[in-house]
Amino acid sequence: MGASAVDWQAKVALVTGASSGIGCATARLLARQGLNVAVTARREGRLYDLVREITRSGGTALAFPGDLRDPAIREHIIFQVREAWGPIDVLVNNAGFGWAEPLAAMSWETASAMLDIHVYAVVHLTHLVLPEMLAARQGWIINMASIAGDIPAPPLSLYCATKSMIQAFSEGLYREVRREGVHVGVINPGPVATEFGVIAYGWQESKALHHGASVDRVATAVWRMMVHRKKNIYIPWYLRFVRPFNVLCARLVDWGHPLFLKTIGREMHR
Ligand SMILES: NC(=O)c1ccc[n+]([C@@H]2O[C@H](COP(=O)([O-])OP(=O)(O)OC[C@H]3O[C@@H](n4cnc5c(N)ncnc54)[C@H](OP(=O)(O)O)[C@@H]3O)[C@@H](O)[C@H]2O)c1
Repeated sequence: MGASAVDWQAKVALVTGASSGIGCATARLLARQGLNVAVTARREGRLYDLVREITRSGGTALAFPGDLRDPAIREHIIFQVREAWGPIDVLVNNAGFGWAEPLAAMSWETASAMLDIHVYAVVHLTHLVLPEMLAARQGWIINMASIAGDIPAPPLSLYCATKSMIQAFSEGLYREVRREGVHVGVINPGPVATEFGVIAYGWQESKALHHGASVDRVATAVWRMMVHRKKNIYIPWYLRFVRPFNVLCARLVDWGHPLFLKTIGREMHR
């Protein structure tokens, strides 16, 4: 199916992790393009503010707050979106968080939350929407991974591993369904200026919100991925060389990771 042939008006999109950062910017952009946008995350006040903002500027959006760690809530969110607008055409699996701490020191609650959000929620939501997409021979699943998936490094080992899983899952699924009209793509940003750094590294918000690419740049990448059926996008583009670097220069990376720790700063709260 040619990209330009798609009529995006009133297509139904679900964006996870839309209460802030990349998800919020993506929801705004998709609404501007005429899609009906369902947004989810835990902080419902922020979601309702976003819905009001989108509606005021002529777009269509609904909020479905919930904690994606819970499988029953995931099912309920999909059910509610379908009740409101019918089958989901576009799923943006964006919700996530970083946590810079050696595994041995990390609480199991944090570790399992990371697995729940980055692994179970991504696979479960995809599993819930995919049959309808395949039946319609049309659909878009856009997954937010990270450059961290290409270069596993402490103290983000678990985060990196979950993002590698998202990359592998996306690439495999892309190959599984590409001939059946469903597009699967994965976005791999480097640092992005969001609240991510507040949670992951304990940074002050003033630092986190000024460190890295803009959220609009990532949201535009999501849109380009949908329209041009791109399989993966790195932000910035040259980060695509990080994976081969990690493979070819593994010893150097083993030796050099303390430099990375320096770049994320001393404010790390762990
Ligand atoms: N910023 C970066 O440097 C960077 C780089 C590469 C990749 N990424 C990825 O980009 C994605 C978005 O992150 P961001 O940078 O935009 O950070 P952010 O502003 O902190 O956004 C994270 C979003 O995930 C949601 N979320 C977290 N836990 C959740 C849960 N249990 N249930 C439902 N929603 C949950 C948060 O909403 P609530 O707290 O309201 O639930 C929030 O909306 C993440 O997957 C992250 O790994 C970020």
